[in-house]
Amino acid sequence: MTTLNDTRPLPAQGTINTSPIALDEHLDGELDAIWSAVEPETRARGNDIHLPISLSFARRLCDAYPDADRTLVLVSTLLHDTGWAHVDEDKIISDGFRGDWRKADIRFQHEQEGCAVARRVLPPLGYDAEFVEAVCAIIDGHDTRAEAYSLEDALMRDADRLWRFDQAGIALASGWFGQDPSTYTDRLETEIIPELITEAAVAMATADLARSRSLLRTKVLR
Ligand SMILES: [Fe+2]
Ligand SMILES: [Fe+2]
Repeated sequence: MTTLNDTRPLPAQGTINTSPIALDEHLDGELDAIWSAVEPETRARGNDIHLPISLSFARRLCDAYPDADRTLVLVSTLLHDTGWAHVDEDKIISDGFRGDWRKADIRFQHEQEGCAVARRVLPPLGYDAEFVEAVCAIIDGHDTRAEAYSLEDALMRDADRLWRFDQAGIALASGWFGQDPSTYTDRLETEIIPELITEAAVAMATADLARSRSLLRTKVLR
C-alpha cells in the first residue's frame, strides 16, 4: 500500500485556493466554543496569530481534500499548539527555536501539554472520547514525529506550516528565529516547502511566498 509519505506532493481532489488568506470569511461557528475555552492558551507564543491563520489554511486544505474528516482537521489545528501555554516560557525561544529545535525537550512537552488541553476542553463541549483521542493522536508528535500517519494528520501539518508564508507569519516567526525577512523567506523556500505533504499546500505556499517577498522587498532588503 502506498502511504501518504510516499506520494508527495499528494494530489488534490477538490479546489485549490491560492488567494491571500485574509480574503476568506473567517466564520468559525461551531468552533467558537473551543476558541473561548482556550483563550488563555492563545496568549502564549503568538498563538493568537498563529492558530487562527493556520485554522483558515486548514479549511482551504479540507476543501482541496474532501475525503478528510473536516472536524478532526479543524479541531486538531485549532488546538495543536495550545500546549505552549503550559511549558516554561523562558525556554520557548532559547530551546524551542534555536539549535536542534525539533528535538528539544520543550517541543515534546508542548505536544503533551496540548493533548492535556484537548482532553480538558473537548469533553465538556460534547466531543466523545474517540474523537478526543483522534485529536490527541495528531497533536502528539506534530512537530517531533517524522511522518504523518493519516490524511487528517497531513493536513494539520501543512496548515501549521502554511501560516508562515503569509506576511503576518513572516513578521512573527522571522523574529523567533532571529532572522531578517529576506533570510527567513529564503528558508521558507528551501526548507519548509519541501516539507509540505500536499499539492494544495505547495501551491498555496508558493503563491503566498511570491506575494510576501514582493511586498517586503526582499530582493533589495538583503
Ligand atoms: Fe507545535
Ligand atoms: Fe504550530
